[in-house]
Amino acid sequence: MSSNKRPDEMVRIENESQALDFIGKEVAAVRAQVGDGKVLLALSGGVDSSVVAALLIRAIGRNLICVHVNHGLLRKGEPEQVVRVFRNEMDANLIYVDAVDRFLDKLAGVDDPETKRKIIGGEFIRVFEEEARKLDGISFLAQGTIYPDILESGTVKAHHNVGGLPEDLKFELVEPLKFLYKDEVRVVGKALGLPDSMVYRQPFPGPGLGVRCLGAITRDRLEAVRESDAILREEFAAAGLEGKVWQYFTIVPDYRSVGVRDGQRSFEWPVIIRAVNTRDAMSASIEEIEYPLLHRITDRILKEVKGVNRVLYDLSPKPTGTIEWE
Ligand code: XMP
Repeated sequence: MSSNKRPDEMVRIENESQALDFIGKEVAAVRAQVGDGKVLLALSGGVDSSVVAALLIRAIGRNLICVHVNHGLLRKGEPEQVVRVFRNEMDANLIYVDAVDRFLDKLAGVDDPETKRKIIGGEFIRVFEEEARKLDGISFLAQGTIYPDILESGTVKAHHNVGGLPEDLKFELVEPLKFLYKDEVRVVGKALGLPDSMVYRQPFPGPGLGVRCLGAITRDRLEAVRESDAILREEFAAAGLEGKVWQYFTIVPDYRSVGVRDGQRSFEWPVIIRAVNTRDAMSASIEEIEYPLLHRITDRILKEVKGVNRVLYDLSPKPTGTIEWE
């Protein structure tokens, strides 16, 4: 049985040469573990699964089968980036599953936050399982487990995990990052040639934009979340805040207020901006965004995002507010 304790002699990976050393050793270890076998990986496009994918592609090429499930709750451009980076640039054996309608149909009318999370997590496992059953002769499952996941079972990430694969789908696990801390994973990802936008991206919850489209998700309001989030990210990047602010995003509540548009009364949604800094996500303070930047973002959201008439900025620290709204 393999140990779950980081070996004492393991050096911290802080630079490219240490990363290349780690990659060399893990490539050999993975080849020794799986031989000619095929390995399956759920590739979300997040930092951990992307780095596992790039590492395993280097070790076993097309014997790694990546499954990217688009559940419709990803940020603007994300599914396209996964396909571009992995299928086009790294020649990955990538199965892209468009499950957007399936997820949004299941979520229609569901407004309880925990039920929404359960539906998203459960449906994700089912879609992945269906893809796994279509493929023959796979005995390994790769996972982007990192050291904090092992150490911190009981904290934020662990309590968000929903279910697992059914018992009859028995896989041997391949977890090449399980002794790495997040900053080390990024250094390894960079050394593997992944783009900065993937390696240094901000945290993004598993249920995705689903927890930012408050209450029962509708397609039009989900688009308002996605488009306003894209504008916020673009403007933060242009202002040099990317990588400096820990997490920033927009929320669209299920509530309309009166406004005026083209001289007519209109009932439209507000967009709420949240931008926070934290060390460990247990407490957080807000980013003091400059007024000119807030104005630019507000102007663009009001002009470009359909169905929105107000933009608000959430000044609440955690506690009392959590980082997400739902
Ligand atoms: P809160 O809202 O609890 O968030 O202050 C702390 C951190 O956890 C992320 N978060 C989630 N991550 N599934 C996840 O994988 C979830 O359901 C979830 N809810 C919150 C949040 O984005 C923040 O980074």
